[in-house]
Amino acid sequence: MGGWPLRVCIIGTGYVGLTTGVCLAFVGHKVTCIDIDAKKVALLREGKSPICEPGIVELLQLAEDRLTFTAEFSDCRGADVIILAVGTPSTETGKANLSYIETAVTSIAENLGNGKLQVIVNKSTVPIGTSLRVKLIIDQILTGKKSACQFAIASNPEFLREGAAIHDTLYPDRIVVGGDDVEAINILRVMYIPILEQTFVAPNCCPRPEGFPLPAFVTTDGTSAEMIKYAANAFLATKISFINEISGLCEKVGADVEEVSRGIGLDKRIGSRFLEAGLGWGGSCFGKDTAALSSIGYEYGYPMPLLEGAVRVNRRQRMRVIEKLQESLKVVRGRTVGILGLAFKPNTDDLRDAPAIDITKALLEMGCRVKVYDPVAMDNFREQYGALAVEYCENPLLLAEDCDAVVLVTEWEEFLRLPLREIARRMTKEKILIDGRNIMKPSHVKAAGLKYIGFGRWPA
Ligand SMILES: NC(=O)c1ccc[n+]([C@@H]2O[C@H](COP(=O)([O-])OP(=O)(O)OC[C@H]3O[C@@H](n4cnc5c(N)ncnc54)[C@H](O)[C@@H]3O)[C@@H](O)[C@H]2O)c1
Repeated sequence: MGGWPLRVCIIGTGYVGLTTGVCLAFVGHKVTCIDIDAKKVALLREGKSPICEPGIVELLQLAEDRLTFTAEFSDCRGADVIILAVGTPSTETGKANLSYIETAVTSIAENLGNGKLQVIVNKSTVPIGTSLRVKLIIDQILTGKKSACQFAIASNPEFLREGAAIHDTLYPDRIVVGGDDVEAINILRVMYIPILEQTFVAPNCCPRPEGFPLPAFVTTDGTSAEMIKYAANAFLATKISFINEISGLCEKVGADVEEVSRGIGLDKRIGSRFLEAGLGWGGSCFGKDTAALSSIGYEYGYPMPLLEGAVRVNRRQRMRVIEKLQESLKVVRGRTVGILGLAFKPNTDDLRDAPAIDITKALLEMGCRVKVYDPVAMDNFREQYGALAVEYCENPLLLAEDCDAVVLVTEWEEFLRLPLREIARRMTKEKILIDGRNIMKPSHVKAAGLKYIGFGRWPA
């Protein structure tokens, strides 16, 4: 190891790679972020972020002296640690597509070798056995080459949440590292010391939470580390689907899911987080990771009915918006519906597996006029879903104009301060507001002259 600070290369500057790179540079390491997307690299060199993430631009500035952005892999040669953070999207069968990993690993292998141990770390979410596969690819490329390469593979799954990525990286609950090379694990511990011991001065854009306890450093074998990531996402996804399933029954029997969540969440064995009923999860991870885990189960002749049920409940939950519109409007065809929020969650412009997409498509197929508004994700939506015949609105008031119903899909904070009376005035006589995230106070909405429809809340 070259001593402090470490030289770190990050492969892939998406939500995970860029956040990791920026945070590791901020705490003192010399970081090269490598991406094959030349546009991203050019943007980052100008100090601009290709992703919308609170605090990222500020940290980019604070760490600029220790950060390099490039499309070349040559910096891998001098690196102590090389972190893989490329995408692992779903294939059509639900398996993780490992082609980005394999291409990136090939480029790394061709640029290894500085006579000291180099740690190649998998931070992407990958199926069981990927560490072994990565080692095999590198060994095959290096075979016969006269290079002084010493490398070890480690697994370091990432648990950050989009919209809070910087916060979660600087102030994690735990850091998990898996592998069987003791020196490699020690190098990673050194890399993470400023975070493990919280020795850095917290940036203004992301203050240290009061009473923040030092994170645990969990070391384990590579396979368990790979499983920890999938198991964590599967559990969280299942927890959300569980409360959503309960919320549906609450509606039938006249219970209030908010009361139920509070009542069960206070039980320390259950905990109150991820017990918010609504129209379900989306995003780049839960959908693809539950599909990948399930497909690993099938590969081993071990179906996972609990997980499959969680996925089914989540799919049904999105379409419950349509059912609620049918119940309240009776005839949905020909209606005008406004979608408030396109991003899969607030504080991000990420549209991957966003519920708004399925809901919008279903409404268009049913012959509705669909108007949309999102504070940051509209450009991405135009770019990726330009073929959908929706009307883009500059603000919630323009969206409300002539709408029979407005559906709040993403819980952006600004939606808590909507001018509800004015919205009601601009809508047709139906004046329906579906609160897909249960964030509004039903009495406020009703007082403004709107018909409130939540998920599992009573009185509805
Ligand atoms: N996004 C999240 O919230 C999150 C959280 C935890 C874990 N993860 C996992 O982390 C991984 C990355 O996710 P993401 O959301 O950051 O992905 P992303 O799609 O935002 O970014 C991936 C980046 O990798 C680049 N890339 C692809 N092939 C490359 C190559 N050969 N060389 C260099 N760069 C290459 C792409 O251009 C892109 O910029 C995935 O496995 C994901 O499951 C994501």
